[in-house]
Amino acid sequence: MTRTLLVLNGPNLNLLGTREPATYGHETLADIEALCQRSAAEHGLALEFRQTNHEGELLDWIHQARGRHAGIVINPAAWTHTSVAIRDALAAVELPVIEVHLSNVHKREEFRHHSFVSAIAVGVLAGFGAHGYRLAIEHFAHLLKA
Ligand code: DQA
Repeated sequence: MTRTLLVLNGPNLNLLGTREPATYGHETLADIEALCQRSAAEHGLALEFRQTNHEGELLDWIHQARGRHAGIVINPAAWTHTSVAIRDALAAVELPVIEVHLSNVHKREEFRHHSFVSAIAVGVLAGFGAHGYRLAIEHFAHLLKA
């Protein structure tokens, strides 16, 4: 079985560092990628990290993950709240999924309270900032050991 994790990031997350830092923190996406790579390496896992502002591209990456990755960590960003297509793609590839949000979406506007992805996820981490990505990777390491 492959021990490669796929970390996917949705729209506007390329702007982290300067985007609403009071909500999303000061870390850039490159900082988060470095954190993910370190966490994966600590557990002997390989990791691919990607971000896109194009929904179709994200769908293609999810489709390609089948058979290539052990699991998917995804911050779908705004598509969390809008995209049945992303939910269906994640369900179709039958890989374990952990949904991550930097902010606690439940403390924010009502439109952020609903996620199309949560129902097909192993679990959801929201409000832990960049550390949420590390927690998701640690949980995958735990699952892969079992
Ligand atoms: C987010 C929360 C979403 O509601 C928002 O649209 C984002 C980022 C988060 O990481 O907190 O872009 O997914």
